[in-house]
This record gives sequence, C-alpha cells and structure tokens, in this order.
Amino acid sequence: MNRRNVLAAGAMLAASAWTPLARAARPLGADHRARIQALLGQMTLAEKVGQMNQIAGGRQKSLNSKLDAAMLDRVRKGEMGSFLHVAGAEPLRDLQRVAVEESRLKIPLLFAMDVIHGYRTILPVPLALAASWDPKVAEQAARIAAEEAWAAGLHWTFTPMVDVARDPRWGRVVEGAGEDAYLGSRIAEAQVAGFQGADLGEGRRMMACAKHFVGYGAAEGGRDYDSAEVGPRTLNEVYLPPFHAAARAGAGSFMTAFNALDGVPMTANAELVRGFLRAQWHYQGLVVSDWNAIRELVNHGIAADAREAAVLALKAGVDMDMASGSYATYLAEAATADASLVPLIDESVGRILAAKARLGLFDDPYGFGDPARDKAPLRRTEARDLAKRSLVLLRNDGAVLPLKPGARLALIGALADDASSAIGSWRARGQATDAVTLKAALAGADYQPGTDVAAAVEAAKRADIVLVALGEDFNRTGEARSYAEIGLPEGQAALLEALKATGKPIVAILMGGRPLALERELTGVPAVLQTWLLGIESGPAIAEILTGKAAPGGRLPIGMPRRTGQSPQSYAHLPTGRPANPDLAVDSARYHDTEIGPLFAFGHGLTYGEIAYGPLSLSAETVAPGGRITASVQVTNRGTMAVDEVVQLYANDPVAAVSRPVAELRGFARVPLKPGQSRTVRFTLSPEQFAFWRDGKWIVEAGDIRLMAGASSVDLKSEARFRITAGAEGQVPAASLATKVEIA
Ligand code: BGC
Repeated sequence: MNRRNVLAAGAMLAASAWTPLARAARPLGADHRARIQALLGQMTLAEKVGQMNQIAGGRQKSLNSKLDAAMLDRVRKGEMGSFLHVAGAEPLRDLQRVAVEESRLKIPLLFAMDVIHGYRTILPVPLALAASWDPKVAEQAARIAAEEAWAAGLHWTFTPMVDVARDPRWGRVVEGAGEDAYLGSRIAEAQVAGFQGADLGEGRRMMACAKHFVGYGAAEGGRDYDSAEVGPRTLNEVYLPPFHAAARAGAGSFMTAFNALDGVPMTANAELVRGFLRAQWHYQGLVVSDWNAIRELVNHGIAADAREAAVLALKAGVDMDMASGSYATYLAEAATADASLVPLIDESVGRILAAKARLGLFDDPYGFGDPARDKAPLRRTEARDLAKRSLVLLRNDGAVLPLKPGARLALIGALADDASSAIGSWRARGQATDAVTLKAALAGADYQPGTDVAAAVEAAKRADIVLVALGEDFNRTGEARSYAEIGLPEGQAALLEALKATGKPIVAILMGGRPLALERELTGVPAVLQTWLLGIESGPAIAEILTGKAAPGGRLPIGMPRRTGQSPQSYAHLPTGRPANPDLAVDSARYHDTEIGPLFAFGHGLTYGEIAYGPLSLSAETVAPGGRITASVQVTNRGTMAVDEVVQLYANDPVAAVSRPVAELRGFARVPLKPGQSRTVRFTLSPEQFAFWRDGKWIVEAGDIRLMAGASSVDLKSEARFRITAGAEGQVPAASLATKVEIA
C-alpha cells in the first residue's frame, strides 16, 4: 500500500466485523448475580481464598486417589473451590455432597480434567484434527469428548490449546492446531463450540479453557517451558488471534502460560492478563494458572518466595491457583496486611462463582454426571470418521496408492502394532486395548516389527508393495517432550534404507505428534502418508485410505522441515531485502546446505485423482472500509473417485508501512467433489482482515491487496488484486476474523 494514503480518516470499521465476547460475557441472570453478591458478603477471607484454590484430587494415572478423609475435611471447611485429576459420576457426586451439604456456605465444587481428544473414546490428537482443515471435525471431536466426560461428572476441561507453534522441536506441537493464526482461530472457536454447546447450563457439555495465554508455543529453541521473545506485532498478529477467537466463541476460562514473555512470566503478566485480556478484550471468564506456575514464579526470579508469588499472580489477574497451594497458604494473610488486595480477591471469587453459576451448579449441584451414560459403548463410527478425515497424503508418485486389489503386502514397523501410541499421551480414561492397530486392520499383510532388519527385508522381497510405519511413539511428543533432532528415532532410518534397497515400492506411513524432518530418509520413497496418532480407530482409518475405500483429504497444519536446523519456520514469513534465491552464488536469505523452504509446505496434501482450479474472480476492484469483497474460484474433480479438496485463499499486502508476510491464510474450505463435479467456493472478506498491528492499533491501510487461491501455501493456482480505498482502524486481531465461505 501507499504510505501517503495511510489512515486518512482513521475511521473505525463498522461494528459488523466485531463480535463482542458474547457467550463468555453474557451477563448472568439477576438471580445468580444477587446470589453471588450475597455469598461474597457472607464469605470470610479464608473462604474466598478457598474458592481460588484448585487441588489435585488424584494423579493423572490414579484419579481420585487423594480424596481421603483429610481432604474431605478441607472441603467441609471451604478450603477449595475446584479439584482436578478426579472423575466418575458416583464419586464426584459424593464429593459434591460434602461441599453442598456439609460446608458452611454450601458452594458447589468445580471438577476439572484434561479431556483433550476424547474421554473414553480416544480420537485423533489435536494436531491431527486440525489437519482435517475442517472446523466441523474439531467441533465434533470436542462434543464427543464433552458428552463422555460430562457423563463422568466433569465440568471443566483444560483445552483447547490454541498456542500457535512454528517449531516442531517443541513437543507440545501435538496439542495445538499448528503454525497458523487463521487456521488456529477457526479450529479454536470450533473446539469451544463443541465443548460448551450453546449453553453450558444445559448439561452434557464442559467449560472450555483456552490455553496457554500466551506465547507458550514460541519457546526459545523449542524447549518446553523456556522463555519466549516475541515482538508486539508478532504477538498480536500471530499468537493472540486464536485466543481472541476462543474468547469470542465464549470460552469460559483461560489458562496462563508457564513461560515468560519478554522477561515477564505470564502467570504474573499484569500487562497482558489484566491489561489486555480483561481491560481491552473485556474478557469476563475465569483465569486459572497452569500447574504449580504461581509457585514457580520464584524459579523465574521475580518473586522472593511463594507469598510474593501469590500476590504477583493475583495482581496480574489470575483467579485460580492450580495446584501450587500458594493462594491457599498466603493470600488471606497478605490481604490482611494489605487491604488493597481484597477487591482483587473479590473480583476473582466473583468470576469463579459466576463460572459455577453458568454451569448450573447453583441451580442443581447434582445436575451433572450420568452413571448410565458413563458406561456407554465407545463411539467407534465417529472415531473412525474423524480419523479418516485427519490423514494427509504427502506424496504419491506413480499413483502407488490406493493399493491395487490383490497386491501382496508387507507391513513393517513396531508402530503399526502399537495400540498405546495410537491413543496419544493425553488419554483421559482411554485404554490402549481399545485401539485397533494397523496390523489388526490389515490382517492379510505379512507383518514384521522391523527389529530384525533381515526378516523385514525378506518380508519385503516376498511382497508387491511395502508399507512401513515410521515416526514417533506417543511418548516422544507432548509436555516436556522437546527434541533437538526431529529425525527418525533410533534404528528406523537403517530399516528404511534396507527396505529401499529391495527395490520394492514403499509406502511410508508416518506416525507421531509432530512433523518430522525427513528429506533424506524419504528420498526414493514414492508414497508418504502422514497419519499422526489417530485414536482408537487408527488402524481401520489408515487401512481405508490405503485401500481406496476412502480418499485422503487432510492438509498439513504446519510445514514439515527438510532438516531440523530449519526450525522454526513458517510459510507466512516476512520478505527480506535479499529473498531466498535458488542460486547459491547470490547472497540471499537461505541456508547453503539445504534447499529453500520446507519439504512439505503448510496446507499441502494430496488426494486420489486430479483437481483443476479455475481463475480467481473478484466481485469488485475496490472495497471501502466497512464494505465487503467476494473472491470466487471454481474447482473440478477430474478423477474417478469422490474426494475432498481443501481450497485455500491467501493474502499479501505488497506495499505497506511495515513489511507484510509473503502470504497469510485468510480462508479455506474442504469441498466434497464427486467424480467430474465442479463447485465454486466464494470467500467474502472485509478490509479489517488485512489490518496490521502498529503502535498499539489495528491499521487498515489504503492500497492494493493480492489474493491467491490454491491447493497449498506453495501451490497457488490463480491470483487477483483489489484496492482498499481508504484507511481505517480495525478492532480485533485480523487473523481471528472469519471469512464467510459459501460452496455452490
Ligand atoms: C499443562 C497444562 C495442563 C495442566 C493440568 C500442565 O502441566 O501445561 O496444559 O492443563 O498441566 O494437567
């Protein structure tokens, strides 16, 4: 854009683009408000602090194990507001009874658990669900998880993790929606909708928790818990949008992150929590710390002891202390010494009680949990469907896939028979024995675990085609699972080389929770299928795609590097004065020892057959602030199978007051196409979606915008330009705004 045209009017954009934080902010009914006020009036300081205390009622692998007589006594005394690591409709009703019948003020407890990708029915890990590029998939997964967990007496889950992650060394990349703020925003709001439904009080839903606020995914070097250095523009344009989207979707709670951002730990970050989230975004929900994070402020070196840490967290706006006990031990005493803390405590308790009210717990403290449903059968059909939709076909040279009927198959690799890995690391009440592995699903294949390479090679020689399961088991991604090298684990590369040497066509089936850096290893492998950790129906889902019973339709939500040393990276990088040049004699922004860009880019994924794209056409050549512009593109299935094509729309602002990313996702649609069918996708956008963050504001500049449509961030098929006619000011993070998508 032309700087001369910048912000002539400074006009505020029409309110239509701005959705208030509707559900989270929805005022409680007058009766509930009055009840909360009355309670606050009756509560002692100790009882207030008790509400702010969340304690583990068990351990992750041994739920309820700490609910002994002493613990019940503490409940009677009003010393806690919430438990985590508890479950079960009956035990939780018993526990609730102690709170609402035996404590002085009869305030119900809030029961919480990390129900991340399923409760009993374990579904694909979150990164895999995001790979569906279909918010409905994420929403359905959340709904299934919520229904099962609610039946087991739970009110609150610590998900979705909406941290943008551009560094696959970080083990928690598995828990999020990948590298992109726009895709992440759409998945985040879908997850919130799935967990919470239209009204939490209706039951069979759980309160969601957008975590980890904020910048956790930007941990230096991809080391979990490490500090993040993120400039204000990147923070606002990349890391904050999915949180804003989650808040707008009504997420009932937020969790502060472990990490420090620019030297200030998020658990004590008053500027971002109290200042930004509360004051600017008007977020009304409950803010909980991460596990023990309040006490860990001492380790961060910003508090001398846990008492000081508790005061800092309270001042920052953290309502509830997860597991550190610092609020419980020190806040009452601190507030007695410093009366200015009392109103902050009252606000926090008010928000905790409001969350309980929204969940209907004041109306009926036993109105949750259903022992009959808690024993309901696993939801296998849905689990398989979600798994199939999460698979990504990365390479299919010579149409090796789908497998030809009657082909003799060798199936190699321990992961093909690893039921425990199929269900990932957050498994709630899921059981490894519930998972159907690929080995079980492809019973006719000649299976070899691959530990004996010679035996694997013999099996390969007997076969027409070799399926090899490679990658990481469940325990190599997740919390505190960062790796400095993200290649194949020990032994797998040698196995793969030996299989390649047989000359048989190979299908690499990549499992695990992060994109691996496998350029060299995958050279000479004609077909590559990214299958993540897909849950209990993992094997049958993969088998259906391999055999062509279903076509793959997922796309990468994060690029796959060629080499670990390229991390972090993103397709949405800024241009430089010396853009990467294939010619090494030219000094440019690239490495000398590897090709430019990732091996498989953000948005990449193939299907069976061929899809043709028409030109991108625009409804107008210009758009004024407050207006809308529509971009349309036609796609045609030239193949012989019914497939899904993920049509992607990227934007670039070629000349602006600050450098803008070379491309930014601003719309997508997963489009089902029958053989021969053509469909048109219409994306309707507003100028506010191209705003950038500068000097504490969202700036929409007058000038040109390029739109590009295609099948991935690097496979752009057609492009068009339009002009924003005048400057304006946006109201919300640009990437958090949803493009209207219609498929005709
Ligand atoms: C994780 C959170 C999780 C919490 C409770 C922490 O270690 O960072 O994501 O919700 O534990 O289990």
